Amino acid sequence: MSITRRRFVQSSLAAASLPLLASRRVLGANDDLNLAFIGLGGRGGGHVGWFGSKQNGTRVAGLCDPDESRMGGHAKKNPDAIAEKDVRKLLENKDIDAVVIASCNHWHCLGAIWAVQAGKDVYVEKPISNNVWEGRKLVEASRKYNKIVQGGTQQRSDPLQAEIKDYLDSGALGKMQYVRLNRFGVRGEIGKRDTPMPWPDNVDKDLWLGPAQDLPIMRRQLQYDWHWDWNTGAGELGNWGPHIVDDCRNVALRDQVAMPKRVVAGGGRFAWNDAGNTPNTHFIYYDTGVVPVVMAVHNLPIKKGTNQGDIYARLKTRAFLVIQCENGYYAGGRGGGSAYDNDNKVLKKFKGDGGGQHAANFLKAVRSRKREDQNAEIEVTHLSSAWCHLGNIAYRLGKEYNSEEAKDRVKGYGPWEELVEGFEAHCAANEIDLGKEGAKLGPMIEIDAAKETFTGPSATDEAKALLRREYRKPYVVPDEV
Ligand SMILES: NC(=O)c1ccc[n+]([C@@H]2O[C@H](COP(=O)([O-])OP(=O)(O)OC[C@H]3O[C@@H](n4cnc5c(N)ncnc54)[C@H](O)[C@@H]3O)[C@@H](O)[C@H]2O)c1
Repeated sequence: MSITRRRFVQSSLAAASLPLLASRRVLGANDDLNLAFIGLGGRGGGHVGWFGSKQNGTRVAGLCDPDESRMGGHAKKNPDAIAEKDVRKLLENKDIDAVVIASCNHWHCLGAIWAVQAGKDVYVEKPISNNVWEGRKLVEASRKYNKIVQGGTQQRSDPLQAEIKDYLDSGALGKMQYVRLNRFGVRGEIGKRDTPMPWPDNVDKDLWLGPAQDLPIMRRQLQYDWHWDWNTGAGELGNWGPHIVDDCRNVALRDQVAMPKRVVAGGGRFAWNDAGNTPNTHFIYYDTGVVPVVMAVHNLPIKKGTNQGDIYARLKTRAFLVIQCENGYYAGGRGGGSAYDNDNKVLKKFKGDGGGQHAANFLKAVRSRKREDQNAEIEVTHLSSAWCHLGNIAYRLGKEYNSEEAKDRVKGYGPWEELVEGFEAHCAANEIDLGKEGAKLGPMIEIDAAKETFTGPSATDEAKALLRREYRKPYVVPDEV
């Protein structure tokens, strides 16, 4: 079966309605899968090779990006693929079996929901959502249309995770006490223009914005730095967090905890006088009902004037995942880690593959039609993404930071006090005046996990509004998927 390539359409006369339900072609056991790639930036470009390789039994059948400069090179290399800047038009093609979405975060859920409604299976990058509510809508859509939908938390396909679980289950480290999560990657400011960014000629503005509000863009560049604006991104917690939280939810909490019971957070966007509004320094406490989880996310260096990332001082580690047990701890990141006794002596080393088989795992499930074959079935990545949105909401509800109040939020709990003290020490090393630079401390928010909403005194209209977004018409995630 051949697919004819359509030219990149310059007009933005996009149909305003959702794609019509399209039936999927009937696949034979040996048929290649036709894949379309939605979002062709850094990650999406990599996906074309990862998913679209011949040994996977796949064909690069469709390409979609409203940025012509992003699409052009891929269209040249894959002349038989449909190149279409409007995802709705791409999805009309009945020959496409599955889509791989690596657009900006604000498009993930809507693109994925439209895709399943059009009869396609979906791989969608983390965070799978812009907000908690729409993530659940995607899970509902995957059930209703009986589609295979997988999240881009690829560590779930790393055999490392099962090895760590087995080791913890052996009792070698004793009972689990708490989990400490860290992300200490240094980043820089994103600029601040005097006048709004002129929209680049090569990008279709309406399609790029999709569900996001049409607000003036004051940063230096359009692409990638959308991460640092709530309108389109979810900050560093929403960027790296879904991986790290997902490791914790799987390896330590064994997927027993859908959502935390309570969350509190603080931090700020310090040192950079730029157009971003997400924190570059963020600390979070998750009360899970199993063991507490504390998390530090720092984009500033270990001290002012260096470009070296911060460190978790007590254990002198940058490990993403630290599982503290009675007789020692596990500390590791992508691709491996070690178990230590409480004197920091290595007891066992672990090596992983970083989740390289995750694309193959998705394709296997697309062929078998069995959700249980998936390592990161969409509900798993929805929940890990939602934890990050909750940590962001806990920060966004914050008021002026106060050190004593911060400690009192989880009074007398050592790992929390260590987290708060670590935040203050890190800010001091970067010569941040917490008062002058607008540091925030949020209230303790309570979560009704079954309803995926807030409960108790924290269930204010302001808090609840942050569980969902205002969609720019016609790019609206519907209540009924
Ligand atoms: N799993 C991982 O390890 C991993 C690694 C890197 C990035 N990611 C995720 O991948 C996503 C993309 O990240 P990136 O670094 O490539 O960002 P990027 O800014 O380089 O690329 C995003 C692309 O999406 C395009 N886009 C915007 N609206 C679109 C639409 N309606 N249809 C199709 N494309 C659209 C943009 O034009 C841009 O080319 C992010 O959500 C990020 O979190 C995941």
